[in-house]
Amino acid sequence: MAVNPASINAHDAMGEALINRFLAVRRQSDLMATGLSPEDQNLQSMPGASPMKWHRAHTTWFFETFVLKPHSGQWGFSYEPINEQFEYLFNSYYNGVGQQFPRAQRSLMSRPDCEEVAAYRRHIDQSMQQLLSKAPDSAMETLAELVILGLNHEQQHQELMATDLKHAFSFNPIAPAWTKRPDPLGPAAAQRWVKISGGIHQIGHDPDHAPDPLSFYFDNETPQHKVYLEDFELARRPVTCGEYLQFMEDGGYRNVNLWLSDGWAWRRDHDIQSPMYWRQEDGQWYLQTLGCWREVDPDEPICHISFYEAAAFALWAGARLPTEAEWEVAAGSISSDSIEEGHFSGCNRYHPASSPDLNAEHEASRPLVQLFGDIWEWTASSYSPYPGFKPVAGAIGEYNGKFMANQMVLRGGSCATPTGHIRNTYRNFFYPPDRWQFSGLRLARDL
Ligand SMILES: [Fe+2]
Repeated sequence: MAVNPASINAHDAMGEALINRFLAVRRQSDLMATGLSPEDQNLQSMPGASPMKWHRAHTTWFFETFVLKPHSGQWGFSYEPINEQFEYLFNSYYNGVGQQFPRAQRSLMSRPDCEEVAAYRRHIDQSMQQLLSKAPDSAMETLAELVILGLNHEQQHQELMATDLKHAFSFNPIAPAWTKRPDPLGPAAAQRWVKISGGIHQIGHDPDHAPDPLSFYFDNETPQHKVYLEDFELARRPVTCGEYLQFMEDGGYRNVNLWLSDGWAWRRDHDIQSPMYWRQEDGQWYLQTLGCWREVDPDEPICHISFYEAAAFALWAGARLPTEAEWEVAAGSISSDSIEEGHFSGCNRYHPASSPDLNAEHEASRPLVQLFGDIWEWTASSYSPYPGFKPVAGAIGEYNGKFMANQMVLRGGSCATPTGHIRNTYRNFFYPPDRWQFSGLRLARDL
């Protein structure tokens, strides 16, 4: 969870770059709230989702708690909290900081209102700029680590702002829109199996490899380490809605033999018959987007499915989910796929899309496509520490490590992931039943 200091040499350039990046990420969060009413911003539709207003305040709290307060009184910089109670109200899960307001009751916080939260954000933005302008060269390295962590944290919350808002809007028959209608883009890329050679490979982030002095990685991506893989095959692109419909029409949701035991119990207890946000009218399937309800496009990647649904589909298809090591090795060494070409939040679409340019004629140069963006891809790997993993000291070490139980790893980023936020080594994680994220799958199979 650090920036690489190898090429940090000019304090002014570093400080300016940091401030510019800081302001850009903060502005994006504000933009996401533009056009949403105070009522919209205070919606909380389930305990695991949070109101937009809370996200905006909590990301601000992160800078206040881990950057501003610890450095107040140094280098002529002084920080005064706008409200001491915010330390409790907007602490998410950091026991090392103190007690937290109950997660499931965040929508009960009508105060501070949206205007007060906006003022809180401005107060922290101004204080951060003062701190960065006063910090000496000797402190910039440590400060940069914290600031870049805070910005990546805020980007993670930007994705949650979109997915939590979508979940909240799904309960409203008026079908509120937050984006433009995300129209289908065209046919899916041709599907093929791509052989990946096994053997000993390295996965995880190498802190000594940093092309940019402000490059970033989370602690859960380290240490880089060796893994052994058998030869395997990976599907060229993610599973589409059309392919998933075949699974549904073949009775996939009714065939107990396709389901993990926990998955079948979850499916039965919640009467799961289709992906989240799907409904059927007169034989036609529709899905909710952040812009509208519209017909399911058979060419776009399936999303809003749980790990259990992904695993059942894979078994039905005569395949399996890739492990996270297989995914990372394939993405790192085999693919010519480019992260920059993925559909991320910068597209302002907030819905996965097919990639009609990636057809069969490009197969030789583009063996694997859409690894990045559109949908998070469930893997068969549980979220566990890499060999030698050590959380950083202090409360900030609670960021990732303490969640390494009972969750599964997803890879690749989604249409709601901020552009530039994802990496080949990035590990996302959710509980097996979770499906309000843009989560789908790509098939793998043994050779
Ligand atoms: Fe957070």
